[in-house]
Amino acid sequence: MRKSPGELAIMDEANRIVLEVLAMIERTLEEGITTAELDAMAEKMIRDMGGIPAFKGYKGYPATLCVSINDEVVHGIPGDRKICDGDIVSVDCGVIYRGYYGDAAKTFSVGEVDDIAKKLLEVTEKALQLGVDECRSGKRVSDIGKRIEKYVSSEGFNVVRKFVGHGIGRSLHEPPEVPNFFDPEKNMKLKTGMVLAIEPMVTVGSYEVVEDEDGWTVRTKDGSLSAHFEYSVAITKNGPRILGLREDNG
Ligand code: MF3
Ligand code: CO
Repeated sequence: MRKSPGELAIMDEANRIVLEVLAMIERTLEEGITTAELDAMAEKMIRDMGGIPAFKGYKGYPATLCVSINDEVVHGIPGDRKICDGDIVSVDCGVIYRGYYGDAAKTFSVGEVDDIAKKLLEVTEKALQLGVDECRSGKRVSDIGKRIEKYVSSEGFNVVRKFVGHGIGRSLHEPPEVPNFFDPEKNMKLKTGMVLAIEPMVTVGSYEVVEDEDGWTVRTKDGSLSAHFEYSVAITKNGPRILGLREDNG
């Protein structure tokens, strides 16, 4: 489960590609563009940077990005759907670089979104930051979800329970599972060299989700808005380090 400094350097590069792609998407997102167009741009950029899209082909997933709009929580498949003014758009991206995985996600707002959507994005991003801050040697996996859940519920929102964060390295999903809510059974101690993908998914209404007929898209059961932010985080002797993060791609 623990990575060497050399492995962490490669994972930093894998995640840098992911964060550059998300920064490109943020600059490109506008009313009228289709999610398939965003996906094609992401795939080209990843390959130009020497990476391989990690989600494409993973358990049969057909695309480079997951693009999940409004009540969609995760795993939205890119297609002809056009982005509309007022949408919130969650974009999740994974890359394989020199045999190691990077994985991150952000939710963007397009044009004028309503106040509850704005607050949802702020709260979910802050929830991720608080989760990242728990990624310290000696803490437990459960401390991450505990901190995230406490904050999100104090703001009146809910944390999705069906999907969780995960270890990451030579595989996209490695142990341990990292719930974004308090689970006392997840009492494993964090150690330096571990890398965790922390990824709170937050809903305005109930945390219950349903899967679409397409076999992938996950949406809220009650149709309420949902947001998703994710970073891959290394636990170092100096505390948490968000992999791939640079001044201009955060
Ligand atoms: N970030 C998601 C995860 O960690 C992405 C998986 S999407 C899939 O599970 F398409 F690859 F399944
Ligand atoms: Co992930």
